Amino acid sequence: MKLSLYSTVLSIVVGSTLAFAPSSFSTISSSPQHRNVQTEIYERKPFITGNWKLNPSTKGEAIQLATEIVKSITPDSPDVALFVPFPFIETVQTVVGDKITIGAEMVTPEMNGAFTGGTSAPMLKSIGVQWVLAGHSERRTINQESDEYINAQCLALIETDLSVILCIGETLNEFENDLAGAICAVQLKKGLQGISKEVIQAGRVAIAYEPVWAIGTGKVATPEIAQDVHFKCREILADMYGQDIADEIRILYGGSVSPDSVDGLLMKPDIDGALVGGASLSGESFGRIINFQPEVSQEQDAVVGGDEAGKKPGVVKRLAKKVKSLF
Ligand code: 13P
Repeated sequence: MKLSLYSTVLSIVVGSTLAFAPSSFSTISSSPQHRNVQTEIYERKPFITGNWKLNPSTKGEAIQLATEIVKSITPDSPDVALFVPFPFIETVQTVVGDKITIGAEMVTPEMNGAFTGGTSAPMLKSIGVQWVLAGHSERRTINQESDEYINAQCLALIETDLSVILCIGETLNEFENDLAGAICAVQLKKGLQGISKEVIQAGRVAIAYEPVWAIGTGKVATPEIAQDVHFKCREILADMYGQDIADEIRILYGGSVSPDSVDGLLMKPDIDGALVGGASLSGESFGRIINFQPEVSQEQDAVVGGDEAGKKPGVVKRLAKKVKSLF
């Protein structure tokens, strides 16, 4: 969404204060040019997503969970999607209607043929699925899906006119050896190979950064760590597609996201949403995550209103919602 009224208004209201000092923001190595482009011109609609994995056990429980979750959707909700086991997709679609997008947790790259147990992109499309996950770390490790296989999945989805969330992320060992950026670069470049700028511009690709060490462990990456890697990912995407297009891609964070951690994460300028595992299995928890509170604290309000506004681009981005509500 480039240079919309929404973001132009935001620029007018706070943009002038952003023209200096962004390099002092956090520990992230960023050029002032990049920082201004992201915060003044672009606004990415938050995307909150849940991954039910191999849960719940029965169709009845799936109906009950979806019924609880959909109650939390309001006209002001962000984009919301649930990735659910294949047998529940159509039932859950019926429960949530058009309030929540129901996606699949994986796809078989082949379109048809002798691939026992497979589920193809055309099959998913025929039952109204739009979004599909690819490259989740559990499938990379447990099912030994390679970057090449994941790329084939992405290409099959795009060819079928579906949309993909490509999941990437490093292991604990890689993180401790300062390899998060390098691992994400490889997984992004290999996973997205052959996907055109036009597809990205159409909003049909999102990225989920899910550090393996934070998945199901209760160890959520701090907002600063997550922002740092998200920023690096956007730089890699800029190298691949150009800065303008990189600024349009939504990059979600996943890994032990909870009602307690979501607000801090979503305040960061390059964190555009969440991919939630365990907490998406509770209507109450996921409802709170959907309704995350990006409100500016009193302290941040003072910063934005004062001389040091340029130091808080994340705050400025989230202020867009408030500015919009003035009209
Ligand atoms: P948890 O939120 O349970 O850590 O799972 C994250 C995840 O893998 C989402 O895809």
